[in-house]
Amino acid sequence: MEIVIESRAGTRPFTCEPGEKILFAGLRAGLTLPYDCATGTCGMCKARVRSGTVDVIWPEAPALAKLQRDKGDILMCQSRATSNCVVRVPANVALSEAGPLPRYGSGRVHNVERLTDDVMHFELALAAPMTFNAGQFVVLTAPGINGARAYSMVNYALETSTLELVIKKKAGGGLSDWLFEADRTGLELGVFGPLGRATFRPGEDRDLLCIAGGSGIAGILSILEHATSAGHFQKHKGRVFFGVRSLRDGFYLDRFSRLVAQSQGALQVFLVLSHETVDVAVHPQFGNIQIATGFVHDVANAHLEADCSHVTSFVAGPPPMVDGAIRVLIGHGVPSTQIRYDKFG
Ligand code: FES
Repeated sequence: MEIVIESRAGTRPFTCEPGEKILFAGLRAGLTLPYDCATGTCGMCKARVRSGTVDVIWPEAPALAKLQRDKGDILMCQSRATSNCVVRVPANVALSEAGPLPRYGSGRVHNVERLTDDVMHFELALAAPMTFNAGQFVVLTAPGINGARAYSMVNYALETSTLELVIKKKAGGGLSDWLFEADRTGLELGVFGPLGRATFRPGEDRDLLCIAGGSGIAGILSILEHATSAGHFQKHKGRVFFGVRSLRDGFYLDRFSRLVAQSQGALQVFLVLSHETVDVAVHPQFGNIQIATGFVHDVANAHLEADCSHVTSFVAGPPPMVDGAIRVLIGHGVPSTQIRYDKFG
């Protein structure tokens, strides 16, 4: 099937395989189509079908409710073409100059580890190595499970055959339920990626500021791993505000503690408890991790200096938390071009 994208930057044709999501086909072809979540939540991939027909893959996708579907509006991440199509995208769509391009692959589940009551670490042994940037994510599918879910990589390596991922238990969460309800070690998952533009770019001469809630911390850890290995904290400072409900909900603290120690004072990590007040200023087990209480964006607000125009910020978590954090960052003078975020439902 041929899809022609019309945008402010002109027209771009590409080939879409039968049954393939229009967004994924366009990204594979190297087009800079707009998107954030790739899974039907954010609405960023909105477009309008000018000619041709498409099927909606997930009619309950939250972002579909805001569209004028009678006028031909679609979510490209939730649509597959059933004929050649011309699709109007309200953005400048060009050929991407930044790699790596996403592609389809597969990986087997291994090293599954419960981190807290409702958070699990698992790894995928990929059938073919993947190159990704710190902060990117993949979309996973499981046999017999409807829908796809996005997971950020926790690890960072220029090219790797292992993706480290973290998943939060979510009632009615499809893939999340499937992974939590039994040991899935050895089973094969479908992988599409890497995706996401909220990435760390080595060489940017700026301090780092990270605000994350729950499993949103995954991509932040990847960014810190890359920044550490690139020597970024020899010249720049980093601060991380990691929001969880209570002390026992903190995870990957051993990794944070190691990164703080390696940074020799350049990196500060705050574990922020939203539903528990504790009588300690530092973590009882990891003494170089500071403890604070409140909502994570409020705590960040209280700690930030008035002028944060020198930082690049990364934000990841549920939409209300991300929106709150972005307001805080703008209020402290972080340029909007230096606010990179991932919202997930
Ligand atoms: Fe399609 Fe988010 S990218 S709804």
